[in-house]
Amino acid sequence: MRQQIILDVDTGIDDSLALLYLLASPDAQIVGIAATAGNVPAAQVAVNNLAWLEVCRAPEIEVALGAPEPLAIPLRTTEDTHGPQGIGYAELPPPTRALSERTAAEMWVALVRAHPGELIGLCTGPLTNLALALRLEPALPRLLKRLVIMGGAFNHPGNTTPTNEWNVHVDPEAAKEVFDAFSAAPADRRPLVCALDITETIEMVPKHLTLLAERAGSVPAEAVSEADHDGIRSTAPNPLVRYISDAVRFYFEFHRQYDQGYIAHMHDPFAAAVALDPTLAVTRPATVDVELTGTLTRATTVADWAGVWGREPNADIVIGTDPAAFFDRLITRVGDFARAVYPPVERKAR
Ligand code: BDR
Ligand code: CA
Repeated sequence: MRQQIILDVDTGIDDSLALLYLLASPDAQIVGIAATAGNVPAAQVAVNNLAWLEVCRAPEIEVALGAPEPLAIPLRTTEDTHGPQGIGYAELPPPTRALSERTAAEMWVALVRAHPGELIGLCTGPLTNLALALRLEPALPRLLKRLVIMGGAFNHPGNTTPTNEWNVHVDPEAAKEVFDAFSAAPADRRPLVCALDITETIEMVPKHLTLLAERAGSVPAEAVSEADHDGIRSTAPNPLVRYISDAVRFYFEFHRQYDQGYIAHMHDPFAAAVALDPTLAVTRPATVDVELTGTLTRATTVADWAGVWGREPNADIVIGTDPAAFFDRLITRVGDFARAVYPPVERKAR
C-alpha cells in the first residue's frame, strides 16, 4: 500500500530533490503539489514542479498555484541561493502540463476532506498555503495522518538572520498560525519538525552525485569537483542525472561562498524521507511558538522543551538521525529511478 502525500514546496534546489525522492519511492504516491512562494515566486515554483514531473515522465499529478505573497508581509525570494529560476544551473524544458484550476489552499482542503486520516502532508517551503488551508478547514490537523515540516531553528543559528530559518523568515505569521492550530490537535497528530539543527547535518558532497550517477548507469562517471570553475555544466547522458548535477553544483557553490565548504545541505529531501519513514528520526516533543514582534528576533522559532509555558507540546522536533543512512536511501532510490526513466543505451560490442 503506497502512502499518499500532499507536497507543499517552494522549488528550490533541495525541494527538487525532495520531489524526485518521492517520485522515486515505490512506497509513495503524490496526490497533489502546492506551489508556494519562497525561494522563487509561486508562478516559477509551479513551472519548476510541472517541468520536473515532465522530465520524470510522472503520471498526471495536480499542481496548484499558491498565494503570490505571504500572509502579512511582502514576498522575499532568494535567487542567489537557488539560481535564477530556482533550480540552480539546471535548465529543464518548458513543461506542457497545465496547472490546476484551484488554488493550493483549496487543493489542500479538498484532498484532506476526501481522504480523512489517510494523507501525509509535507511542507518544505513557507507555510503560507497551509495556513490559508487551515483558515478554510480548522479540522485539518485531525484530517491528516501526519504532517512533516522543514522549518525553524531552535538550539542552532539561523540561515537568514542570526536566529531565522528561511521558510519561517519568509512568512512568520503563517508559521505561527500553523503551530497554533496544531496546539489543539491530539498528540499523535503533532507535526514532525525538521529544523536547521538537524537538516544542517545532512551534507551532500560531490561523491554522493558520483554514486547516484553510477547507480543510474550514467557513463562516463559524473565527477563534480571542488576544483572545477564555477558554472560548469554536466554532460551526463542520463538527463535526470544531468539536471540534478547542474542543480546541486549551484548549491555547492552557494554553500562554499558562505564558508560552509563545497557541500549542500539537503534540508528538504531529508524531510521527505522522514515523511515516508519517521523511524529515520529521533524526536523530542516541545511547545513551539514563533516570535512576531522582536526587533532583532522577529520570525525566530522558540521551543519550550521543559513545559515552562504550561502549554501542551504542539510539535515533535527531530533531534537525531543517521545522515549516511539517509544518503544511501536517496542515492539508491533516485539513482534507480533515473535508470528506469532513462535506461542506459547498451554499447555495441565491436
Ligand atoms: C529551507 O530554505 C530553503 O531555501 C530550502 O529549500 C529549505 O526548504 C532551509 O532553510
Ligand atoms: Ca524549500
